[in-house]
Amino acid sequence: MRQVEVALGERSYRICVGPGLLDDAGSLVASLGTVERIVVVTNAAVRSLYGAALENSLKEAGLTVEAVIEIADGERFKTLATVEKVYDGLLDLGGDRSVAVVALGGGVVGDVAGFAAATALRGLKLLMVPTTLLAQVDSSVGGKTGVNRPQGKNLVGVFYQPSLVIADVATLTSLSEREYRAGLAEVVKYGVILDAPLFETLEAESARIEQRDGVLMAEIVARCSALKASVVERDEKESSGYRAVLNFGHTVGHGLENLTGYGSYLHGEAVAVGMAAAARVSASLGECDPGVAGRIEGLLAVLGLDCRMPTGLDRDELARAIAFDKKVSGGEVGFVVCTGVGGCRLRKMSPTDIASAV
Ligand code: NAD
Ligand code: GLY
Repeated sequence: MRQVEVALGERSYRICVGPGLLDDAGSLVASLGTVERIVVVTNAAVRSLYGAALENSLKEAGLTVEAVIEIADGERFKTLATVEKVYDGLLDLGGDRSVAVVALGGGVVGDVAGFAAATALRGLKLLMVPTTLLAQVDSSVGGKTGVNRPQGKNLVGVFYQPSLVIADVATLTSLSEREYRAGLAEVVKYGVILDAPLFETLEAESARIEQRDGVLMAEIVARCSALKASVVERDEKESSGYRAVLNFGHTVGHGLENLTGYGSYLHGEAVAVGMAAAARVSASLGECDPGVAGRIEGLLAVLGLDCRMPTGLDRDELARAIAFDKKVSGGEVGFVVCTGVGGCRLRKMSPTDIASAV
């Protein structure tokens, strides 16, 4: 098992990563010494795959699983109505603040369960058991929780750090090909913005990544978690702006998701297109060597991610979508450019300039 520490003072926690770790979930949770009673939040699909293994492990460690709350599967259910369902399941147990919430699933389960745990009874302990690659390398770490509104994604939420993250990379083997590849886009992102050796590993090990090799994926997930932890430790609540480097590829990616009605692209697929676009913009601005964009596009292609901008895209509409998604100040947004493989910085740009440069 690999362990990563997220050092946030009294809100510090461990991320445990390894193949087969669900079987150790009970002893890992028990070792916190602060949790006895548990409510699992998950969805039916994930529960049918991993619910029994998790529950058995928790029970074997002497913990009590008071309830399993199933929420509906899919981004469109990342809503306050779903959070209310979780509240009711928690409050039906009698309003006991000693109950801990265990989120078993992908980013949707984690964001909903996290928000419910943060707000029910003014805060219950939260434990993350992420089962998608995106959730293991991104959403389970760093404390962003929340839900979507008709006006846009993730517009209601709070920062609320978990007490423990258990990432069993063996769960990645049951992910659909498409979800797995979409998660790989976020992995590539960490290599581009912060970690050239990670990028080189991805280039060299594409065959083992394709096979979802447990040993390699544990190394990769732990590395990405450590990189995210290092960013979150410097700027937990995005107050200095540094955490925004995690948005590399997301400005254009979110714009594409928005313009296509959130129906065509998985998030990671849109981020892949956005990263290739951001790399080309970086090169055209002289922020990095021209070859860097080609190298990033090459890796994305090897990992099965299409990173071409869709044809016929209206640049004015893209500029409007970018302006809507990101806070505009003085007509400009913070756009993450790469300064090479393994380096990045924020650069102020107008949405119109971004849309025409990509
Ligand atoms: P998801 O949670 O919708 O999961 C994708 C699909 O995979 C679902 O159908 C799910 O049931 C299924 N699934 C989950 N684990 C599985 C497994 N091991 N085997 C087979 N199927 C499995 O999507 P996601 O990509 O994990 O997360 C996306 C969400 O995460 C978005 O709502 C996004 O806004 C959010 N997010 C949050 C943060 C954050 O910091 N909080 C960061 C990035 C993304
Ligand atoms: N996914 C970006 C962040 O957590 O800040």
